[in-house]
Amino acid sequence: MAISEKNHPLMLGLAGFGTVGSGLAKILDENQADIMRRCGRNVRIKSILVRDPAKKRPYPFPQGSRLCADASALVSDPEIDVIVELMGGIEAAEKLVRMALEAGKHVVTANKALLAEKGAPLFKLAAEKGLHLGYEASVCGGIPIVQTLQEGLAANSITSISGILNGTSNYILSAMTGSGLPFEVALKQAQELGFAEADPTLDIEGFDAAHKLTLLIRLAWGVDYPFTQLPITGITRVAAEDIQFAREFGYNIKLLGQARMEDGRLEAGVFPTLVPNNYLLAKVGHSYNAVRIEGNAVGSIFLHGLGAGDLPTGSAVAADILNIARGALANNTGYAIANLPKAQIMPPREAKASYYFRLMVLDRPGALRDVAAAMADHNISIAQAIQKGQENVVPLMFMTHDTTARDVEAALQQVKGTGILSAEPVHYRVMPPPAK
Ligand code: NAP
Ligand code: HSE
Repeated sequence: MAISEKNHPLMLGLAGFGTVGSGLAKILDENQADIMRRCGRNVRIKSILVRDPAKKRPYPFPQGSRLCADASALVSDPEIDVIVELMGGIEAAEKLVRMALEAGKHVVTANKALLAEKGAPLFKLAAEKGLHLGYEASVCGGIPIVQTLQEGLAANSITSISGILNGTSNYILSAMTGSGLPFEVALKQAQELGFAEADPTLDIEGFDAAHKLTLLIRLAWGVDYPFTQLPITGITRVAAEDIQFAREFGYNIKLLGQARMEDGRLEAGVFPTLVPNNYLLAKVGHSYNAVRIEGNAVGSIFLHGLGAGDLPTGSAVAADILNIARGALANNTGYAIANLPKAQIMPPREAKASYYFRLMVLDRPGALRDVAAAMADHNISIAQAIQKGQENVVPLMFMTHDTTARDVEAALQQVKGTGILSAEPVHYRVMPPPAK
């Protein structure tokens, strides 16, 4: 980019002026002088696309900007350099991003659902056109994890990633653990604070964390792990009693996205997981996100920060915009190619982990023996156990040594067959220790 071109303000077409869009506008407004110092040019929002122009906003529309009636008018404006997609959803966002790239505009988005489910052809198109498709804000809000994997850790072979990737779920689990707040009340608070997706099912059923994990896998290993093949379990069935029993064993329950490379195959998924309470990840509360990455050169690093909300997310959107304003070359996938190969996937049933179980067992002779026999018949070794005396039904909690998901499934089938359970069994994975 020539100097004279650099000194012109970078002009933005902003699609979406909700939580993140208004956060971005506030940052660009309040930090103008710093932006000028860092980039040598201003950044201005020229036009804004929303659904309902009359709606009351948490932050006023920026001075000098104008509302725009439709997506094609935004994209066809020759003065606009960058389309910033902050609408969410997949269909309309995909159409807008594609139109923008085809029209030769850079794109910045916070839309992890779009990129995880429909991203591959968009990255290909951006590469063909030599354009930026920035998505720092789409993973872990304000934490600069995309840049860390694309640049800071580029010389590493990554061995594993474990992270709290969803602020809403972490807010809910932290509130249930810390102050015993009921699930529904904590969810409502997270929605009021602007952390949740427009459809909060995406948060609490684990899909949002899985979208982010899909993007992290691409960045860490340069492969495409199809979103539809990721095993995903959300937090809707995590009971207050399991949070309490896990604490008695010395663990906190967190919704973790995990991926690790083992013998050339990727083992990955999103699960409520018991995290030893002396690990940093166990102490991450509120809407904070955190990620532990292990690389063969750097060892283990830990990134922590606000994973949702107007300003933290706006900060990450603005970082991508400033990158474009400085005239940086696009490095969208972090790899020399945009068309990433398919991942070699370890079938989820082969994945090994240690587990927490809670079984509601009828209080009758031989019940404990039947449970122990089912575990032993499937090579599952019990590491510790607690049994709580209650009338008629006894909660039996135990932790196992490493076993496969396949053996867990088979052992539970066997226990169910004995007729000693009064409710569906509960089982969660336990976070493995860091690699030596
Ligand atoms: P939001 O508060 O619901 O705002 C969405 C905005 O987009 C609204 O201004 C809405 O217009 C506009 N919009 C939606 N669909 C539209 C359409 N078809 N045409 C025109 N305008 C449309 O959402 P948000 O929380 O800011 O999230 C935006 C994106 O950022 C999502 O992809 C989300 O996953 C991602 N993200 C959010 C956070 C967070 O903390 N909230 C963090 C990271 C990433 P109206 O205002 O007129 O309704
Ligand atoms: N709904 C998301 C969350 C927003 O709670 O983490 C940030 O991506």
